[in-house]
Amino acid sequence: MKAIIITTPGTPSVLQLQERPMPQVGPNEVRIQVEAAGVNRPDVAQRMGRYPAPAGAPQDIPGLEVAGVIETCGVSVTHWKPGDRVCALVAGGGYAEYVAVDAGHCLPIPRGFSAVEAAGLPETVFTVWHNVFQRGGLQAGETLLVHGGSSGIGITAIQLAKAFGAKVFTTVGSETKGQACLELGADRFVNYKTEDFEATLATTGIDVILDMVGGDYFDKNLNVLRPDGRLVYINAMQGNQVNLNIMKMMLKRITITGSTLRARETAFKTALAAEVLQKVWPVLESGAFKPMVFASFPFSQAVQAHELMESSKHIGKIILVAEQGLPL
Ligand SMILES: NC(=O)c1ccc[n+]([C@@H]2O[C@H](COP(=O)([O-])OP(=O)(O)OC[C@H]3O[C@@H](n4cnc5c(N)ncnc54)[C@H](OP(=O)(O)O)[C@@H]3O)[C@@H](O)[C@H]2O)c1
Repeated sequence: MKAIIITTPGTPSVLQLQERPMPQVGPNEVRIQVEAAGVNRPDVAQRMGRYPAPAGAPQDIPGLEVAGVIETCGVSVTHWKPGDRVCALVAGGGYAEYVAVDAGHCLPIPRGFSAVEAAGLPETVFTVWHNVFQRGGLQAGETLLVHGGSSGIGITAIQLAKAFGAKVFTTVGSETKGQACLELGADRFVNYKTEDFEATLATTGIDVILDMVGGDYFDKNLNVLRPDGRLVYINAMQGNQVNLNIMKMMLKRITITGSTLRARETAFKTALAAEVLQKVWPVLESGAFKPMVFASFPFSQAVQAHELMESSKHIGKIILVAEQGLPL
């Protein structure tokens, strides 16, 4: 099969289309013929050599989410059959003609979604559900602050939080991105390039924060959280090392947590997929959620897709699409 390979750590130009053996299918796995694959910021970190794939996952083929058709089922798989159209969370290897994935990490393509739209769901929806709702415990009537509201993660967090009855504030890097977040249902945006979110939101009272920025946002986050607030980390793009004022945390009884999805064990991802199917798929199929594909590229233009992601000009998802009639 053909796959996009990280030939060596570096700039987008290190991504090259090459031949690879077809992935073998384990007893509990299915092999998906990929129609489209989502591009995520962690793929960029992996390409730069800063985010190695977990053991057992393809080490040099990026890609954490796909949509396509099941081509083969492992001997123990009972609930899927060849020909089923699915989207799936994969631990790597999504930028390829075929990928093998645990059957429990696949979900049906939601009614009304194209393969291109569905390819952008698993990584963001699973991450947001686990971090905002399971770890952060966001409840209807509470307020969520999402940093990076126009990111793939951000547009998902805004829409799911609204669908489940929360108020949503977000930080963005431009007015255009802010307007897009308002159109998705956000109640207010803060352009972090012209405003200090801590000053703007000082008296608002935030219950849950989803942060991927880290660095000096840490203390500001503590300051805008309400008592019993929850601060959830999914990355720290501006730095992992921070000073924690323990007394501030104690006085407000703040919970600080976070997680990474990719390296989690198979059983965890299977349970998360089941909960997402039950709780989130009805929201997607109700029409209350816009998939927001900003740009799609043929697989052969993975370099351009990564360049766009690094430019941060996008609002929502970037997707790679298998070229019709041609192997990638
Ligand atoms: N832990 C996990 O399991 C997990 C899973 C998936 C993704 N992630 C992380 O989640 C983040 C989003 O991923 P993605 O794929 O959705 O990437 P993405 O679309 O490229 O988003 C990155 C976002 O960060 C925003 N940003 C950068 N500096 C900021 C600042 N100072 N204040 C507020 N926003 C800022 C950018 O907004 P502007 O362009 O407006 O600055 C951009 O929207 C990444 O950091 C990724 O590593 C974590």
